[in-house]
Amino acid sequence: MSSITIVGAQWGDEGKGKIVDWLASKADIVVRFQGGHNAGHTLVVEGKSYKLSLLPSGIVRQKTSIIGNGVVLDPQALLKEIARFRDQNIHITPEILKVAENCPLILPSHVALDQARERARGDKKIGTTGRGIGPAYEDKVARRAIRLCDLLESKTLNWRLDELLFHHNALLTSLGEKNFTKEDTLRYINEVATQILPFMAPIPELMAQYIHENKFILFEGAQAIMLDVDHGTYPFVTSSNTVPSQTGIGSGTGPRSGGYILGIAKAYTTRVGEGPFPTELFDEDGQYLGKKGCEFGTVTGRPRRCGWFDSILVKHAVQVGGLDGLALMKLDVLDGLTEIKIATGYELDGAVLHRFPYNLEAQKRLKPIYETLPGWSESTYGIRLRSELPVAAQRYIERIEALIGVPISIISTSPEREDTIMSVNLWS
Ligand code: GDP
Ligand code: IMO
Ligand code: MG
Repeated sequence: MSSITIVGAQWGDEGKGKIVDWLASKADIVVRFQGGHNAGHTLVVEGKSYKLSLLPSGIVRQKTSIIGNGVVLDPQALLKEIARFRDQNIHITPEILKVAENCPLILPSHVALDQARERARGDKKIGTTGRGIGPAYEDKVARRAIRLCDLLESKTLNWRLDELLFHHNALLTSLGEKNFTKEDTLRYINEVATQILPFMAPIPELMAQYIHENKFILFEGAQAIMLDVDHGTYPFVTSSNTVPSQTGIGSGTGPRSGGYILGIAKAYTTRVGEGPFPTELFDEDGQYLGKKGCEFGTVTGRPRRCGWFDSILVKHAVQVGGLDGLALMKLDVLDGLTEIKIATGYELDGAVLHRFPYNLEAQKRLKPIYETLPGWSESTYGIRLRSELPVAAQRYIERIEALIGVPISIISTSPEREDTIMSVNLWS
């Protein structure tokens, strides 16, 4: 196996960072191919916690880390994250971190637009992270974006910035918000440019070389398939394609570079932000999961909504993502529950449905049909062998495998790097 792609199979925060870091023990290269600093990953290594947003999670092991062109890059956020790692004694140099020349930039006016539009949406808000992600992707597709390589050419930068600010200021004015001047924006760009440009590298050429040398590459997805702009709960999604098909586009490699495709899912479900969530719990079980699972967003600190495992939703992810296997995370959070439920279908206006519908109003009306399985009273925390899990936990895992149609290749039983069970050999 010379590459593995890791993507979230629910609504994010499944524990992708932990698995990327764990798999990175054997990897040579870790590549981010979409998203931006809306992502938030917490890794725990020997009791020490590391938080990442924009940096690929392989950085903690000092692996070559690539930020591909599919990522929208906030230069200041990247510099702050690098400084934070310096404080934790991890030094990030251009030898380790390489950023694509054609990464679209997130500028202060993108952030202002994102936040102003969310305020204007009122109770229809998406619940974005407010970091300018959506407006930056819009500008990329509208051919208005300023890309990292534009910082090398003052002539290009000059007219590109005119076009960008013309558009942003028109919108900001109509939203009753303050405008951005070219002078201030240029000053900001020049300040960050000298610090960011040393990390710029010819990524397609490097990737071709790594592939030729048979290096082991990890493609690290951010967000998750249910937040994908095409296949998620649109419009309550992020603005990028989060599905594994994005790996080639977002890193300048071909469509066959992704290797084994591993979806990451919690043993239950969470969501942060607005939007449909059929198995959401509003009772004591939901509170139990939230409290035991420490379900608060890494980026915004918002409490995550919690619910039972939804096999239809994960099966949708298996289908649109072409997943080969699943990592089941946070199994330990279910310890102590007498009964555990899994959604195996939905009732929609009196009919039974076994797929996730794309229309929003239907998504909102879905009523889960549950199968109830016995829980377990023993602790699974830190168990490192599948055979040592309580019998009821093993049955729960087997039932999920049968429902989603792919094997559970990894099981995670604590936030710690090493508390991870590999039940399908991904190295062969
Ligand atoms: P990501 O965005 O998918 O990387 O996930 P986050 O880091 O945002 O959220 C996952 C949280 O769960 C983090 O705080 C992890 O440290 C934690 N975590 C990961 N795996 C496990 C696990 O198996 N058990 C428990 N209890 N916590 C876990
Ligand atoms: P990781 O990589 C969970 C959600 C936001 C909001 C929607 C759109 O840590 O799993 P955006 O700022 O992207 O325009 O917000 O997407 N969202 C996430 N939810 N985990 C994430 O990343 C997310 N990134 C964005 O809460 O609902
Ligand atoms: Mg997260």
